[in-house]
Amino acid sequence: MEKKKLWGGRFSEGTDEFVEEFTESISFDKELALYDIKGSIAHARMLGKQGIIPKEDSEKIIKGLEEIKKEIEEGKFEWKKELEDVHMNIEKALIEKIGDTGGKLHTGRSRNDQVITAFRLYLKEETNNIINLLEELKKALLKKAEETVDIVMPAYTHLQRAQPIRLAHYFLAYLEMYNRDQERFKDNLRRIDQMPLGSGALAGVDFPLDREMTAKELGFSKIMRNSLDATASRDAIIEFLSNSAICMSNLSRQSEDLIIWNSTEFSFVELPDKLTTGSSIMPQKKNPDVLELIRGKTGRVYGDLIALLTIVKGLPMAYNRDLQEDKEPVFDAVKTLKGSIIGMTKIIEGLKPKKENMEKSAGGFALATDLANYLVNKGLPFRQAHHVVGQIVGYLTAQNRELESITLEELKKFSELFEEDALNILNPKYVADARKTFGGTAKERILEQIAFWKENLTEK
Ligand code: ARG
Repeated sequence: MEKKKLWGGRFSEGTDEFVEEFTESISFDKELALYDIKGSIAHARMLGKQGIIPKEDSEKIIKGLEEIKKEIEEGKFEWKKELEDVHMNIEKALIEKIGDTGGKLHTGRSRNDQVITAFRLYLKEETNNIINLLEELKKALLKKAEETVDIVMPAYTHLQRAQPIRLAHYFLAYLEMYNRDQERFKDNLRRIDQMPLGSGALAGVDFPLDREMTAKELGFSKIMRNSLDATASRDAIIEFLSNSAICMSNLSRQSEDLIIWNSTEFSFVELPDKLTTGSSIMPQKKNPDVLELIRGKTGRVYGDLIALLTIVKGLPMAYNRDLQEDKEPVFDAVKTLKGSIIGMTKIIEGLKPKKENMEKSAGGFALATDLANYLVNKGLPFRQAHHVVGQIVGYLTAQNRELESITLEELKKFSELFEEDALNILNPKYVADARKTFGGTAKERILEQIAFWKENLTEK
């Protein structure tokens, strides 16, 4: 079956149906439709102003494109597979709508600079959306930190109780991590926000284009200096996927914490009912599915990054059709990351810490290091102090006793250096507040961190 293509001039037979099916991208790149039209309108206006095409033609093209835009927005536009991609679907519709004049739109342009222009416009907008969503997540964490300054919990290394911290310290740690994620996206924007349009197929264009004009209309901060680079490179997009993968790894890691804390064994937090799901067979269960899916979907986004890295690795300069495969991984990463940030924000907002359970677990042998440091402060070398406290732990464990149950008389049997104030160490809050170094978990340091973020998070 033969079908007429926009590029059909030099071909004597129609495209094989398998090839049509295999090479099409309209099924996914229609996501770029409005950005493509934006690029085309800027290009048409510039062609008219430069006298490359008559002004009236330029105006007619713009009007036609605006009508097509409306049809797409209203869901009335009919996408056709045989027209291959979003660019040719729109151009063909324009020609059908305004006649042969529509065929002048593609003057001084190639799909190679057209596609990456639309893609960069899309990515600029989505990167800004992600930056805003991360800001909301940071605000939720700050609010939770303010609410939990006075809750003490055990912090873990090797998932073994290590030292007591204030719960706010934990939330502020993730605030720092998501803040760096956000910084990475902001930095990446400088490299996304550059205009390839006007690079033609690869070598530049032999019409007197005004690239300053199109860049200004499209809101690009910079014009790409080299047309080969502009049409062939995707490194700024790989960087976006890399930033997405890193951000997902942080979200996934926090998901894991909260999944553990939500278990009956830990019972450190209660997740809001509306953000959990039940089991169809076990009536007692309240499953943290949102967190599990953030953790699970992290795998997809790593895959998206590896896909694009692999697509470009052996490509000869300049454009190759392989580059059509750059879109689906990005669409997938954008959707997954946005959903995951929103999910985590809702979880943080609705999370209820179980203060009593946390504080009960923060005491006991989690305070052993502090008891050793007490002796160090009295002049005992750390290695010996470590040994003394090790003996105390052994002594109590043998009797099935907790650290808090020890008396001053007993302590003195292990070292003469113990005095009345040693018993303070058996209070986790006292111990947490002793960690006063910059960045530490003492209440005064946490209040400083909170004050810093209050000043630095933008109100909306
Ligand atoms: N659909 C193509 C893509 O996404 C557009 C560019 C096609 N260029 C070409 N010379 N065939 O990359």
